[in-house]
Amino acid sequence: MTSASAASTLLDWYDRHARRLPWRVSPQDRAVGEVPDPYRVWLSEIMLQQTTVAAVKDYFEKFVKTWPTIKHLAAASEEDVMKAWAGLGYYSRARNLKKCANTVADQLDGRFPETEAELLKLPGIGPYTAAAIATIAFDSHAAVVDGNVERVITRLDQIETPLPDAKPLVKARMGELTPNVRPGDFAQAVMDLGATICTPRRPACALCPWTSNCKVQGTEIAETLPRKAPK
Ligand code: ADE
Repeated sequence: MTSASAASTLLDWYDRHARRLPWRVSPQDRAVGEVPDPYRVWLSEIMLQQTTVAAVKDYFEKFVKTWPTIKHLAAASEEDVMKAWAGLGYYSRARNLKKCANTVADQLDGRFPETEAELLKLPGIGPYTAAAIATIAFDSHAAVVDGNVERVITRLDQIETPLPDAKPLVKARMGELTPNVRPGDFAQAVMDLGATICTPRRPACALCPWTSNCKVQGTEIAETLPRKAPK
């Protein structure tokens, strides 16, 4: 399977099975010209760090209702932002969120930078989040690697190297597979595949669009990947 055919197979699957998430522009809406809002992409990616989609949904809705743009969030008091965040955990994220909103609103006229390198300079934005925003919000060719992506890619190629050493291998492979057209949808498609089909236990290989190209499909090895280095 060439990278191009792997990408188009997965994007076809995503067009039919993408999860409906409040921060996501569906493939159908994108096809009629709707574009992602970098503010919503950034906010969701910060909330999703170490936190499940299910836990994030209501908080995300509350935040964008209260503060519909980054300028609204920058104008809010830190106290109100911390209160709205209460219950989500990892509170340094909320403090950095507010700092980042102030920086983007005050210094960049409310516009997020579009490149990974520029995004990385902002408070609370590390390598994962910079890649996610660059590709999902701006369709740049960035390799996004989270836990779901690590699972899908280590299984696809049967990468037996334990994490964290496997991470650069996964990132390189993700970079190869990522198409120039719709790279943001591709990243979200791999995440959805990991969340709904290529699950940690009992992966649904029979339903997977990549099954015939997967080195471990239908075997007991699948559940053992990704390997983790002993502590
Ligand atoms: N987890 C982190 N970012 C995500 C996204 N954009 N879509 C689905 N799951 C995610």
